[in-house]
Order: sequence, then C-alpha cells, then structure tokens
Amino acid sequence: MSRILGFMNSAGGAGRTTSALSIAVAFSEYGRRVLMVDCDPQGALTFILGKERSHRSVYDIYAGRERALGMIHQTNERVDLIPSSPKLYQLSRLKKSEVLFHALNSFEYDIIIIDAAPGLGEINQSVLAAADELIIPTRLDLLSVRGAIDVAEASKKYRAKVRAILPTMVDARAKHGVEMMNELIGKFGKQVIDPGIPKSLLIPEAVVAGTSLLNFKKSSEISGRFREITYDLL
Ligand SMILES: Nc1ncnc2c1ncn2[C@@H]1O[C@H](COP(=O)(O)OP(=O)(O)OP(=O)(O)O)[C@@H](O)[C@H]1O
Ligand SMILES: [Mg+2]
Repeated sequence: MSRILGFMNSAGGAGRTTSALSIAVAFSEYGRRVLMVDCDPQGALTFILGKERSHRSVYDIYAGRERALGMIHQTNERVDLIPSSPKLYQLSRLKKSEVLFHALNSFEYDIIIIDAAPGLGEINQSVLAAADELIIPTRLDLLSVRGAIDVAEASKKYRAKVRAILPTMVDARAKHGVEMMNELIGKFGKQVIDPGIPKSLLIPEAVVAGTSLLNFKKSSEISGRFREITYDLL
C-alpha cells in the first residue's frame, strides 16, 4: 500500500502547491515512485505540470470511475499526476467520503501526494479520509495559522494524522512572523518544521518556467531546504 500525504490548509495562498510539488520531486530524487493528485478545482498544480485540459482527471474518481484508463499522466518531473478538472466545481454531494481512499489504494506507488484546495468542504473531507499523514503548510500570518489550526482540529475525526506544520514564505525580519512561529511551536511543538521555507523569488520564477523549483534551480539553498525537509519525512 502506498503512503498517502495530504497537503492541506483551509486558508488560501498558504504555500500548499509549492510545497507539495517540491517535496514530491525531492521524494523522487530519493528513489521513491511518486504519484501526485491535484484535488483543487483551480488546478494550479495541473497547470504547472502542463496537464490542463486532460480528458481524464480526478473528477473521474469522484464520479465513480475509480479505474478510468488514462487518468494517470507522466510528467517531466519524474512524478506522475492525476490532474484536476474545473468539473470538480460542479460536483454535487459525494456519496461517501472514502471514495478517494479506495481509489488511491488501488495504485502502486511508494508515496502519493495530494494537493488540496482551500476550505474544508466535501472534497477536502475525502482527502482527510484518504491521507495517512497531513503536511500543513502555513504562512506566518494570523489567517493562515488559523487555517492550519482548523485543519488540525478537523483531522481528529478522520484517519489522517498531522505529521508536520510547514511554515512557508518565511521572512526572518518580520516581527509578526516570529510571534506566529512561537505561537505554532507553543501549540504543535516538534511537529513544526523550524526553520521553514524562506521567501524566495525563485518560486514564482519556477512557475513561469513551467517547472518545479528543484529542477529550475537544482543547487539553490531553497531547493536544498526542501530536500532536507523531505529527508526527515522519508
Ligand atoms: N517560499 C516562497 N517564496 C515566495 N513566493 C512563494 C513561496 N511559496 C509560495 N510562493 C508563491 O505564493 C503564492 C501561493 O503559493 P502556493 O500556490 O504554493 O499556495 P497555495 O496554498 O497552493 O495557494 P492556493 O490557495 O492558490 O491553492 C504563489 O504565487 C507562489 O508562487
Ligand atoms: Mg494551491
């Protein structure tokens, strides 16, 4: 059975997609077979990996076609992808929140990484029911930290356990950020990855280049930081 990691924060713009992709690529560098699943209808991950307008997508899983052929796409990053689709916006009530869990358990990968949307709606509940572990990326501001705490609370009713809180876009000079970091450590202790991911212009530049940070600037300090974090998750 694959190990399933969900990247989730109920607040938007927390650094989920960036962290999910960077850590997925680092896992593949460590020799793991990695599948990414884009569960966000916005499809940022699908866009970065160049798989927009794919005929088959994660929507097929939610529509009851768990084993639809052609759902898994190879990418240039040595990770496979089940892309998102705007059809996810039209999804009416899910019959069972375990639908994603059952589908993902039929795939043979070492690691499955799910990029979740903001919020705690039905699709995200299915992610909480599918994941073994949660990585909660958060900016060091109050709304993002609040979203991180909401996910940790929500996860208590599901099988997913919080593995790590990952501070993102960290600006060491920001006093408010230091206060938020202390607040997180007070609440989550050693689960908080310290230091987190620094703010870096390389990240939006990698998006423009249509590639992951780890392939865009292989030897940069920030790529190295993602590798160290992934090593601790191995
Ligand atoms: N360490 C960083 N330094 C600078 N910019 C960053 C960093 N991490 C992420 N960003 C940028 O911040 C924005 C939000 O990041 P990202 O898309 O990873 O977050 P998200 O939680 O997936 O957001 P969304 O709610 O849109 O799904 C993106 O434009 C991204 O390029
Ligand atoms: Mg995202």
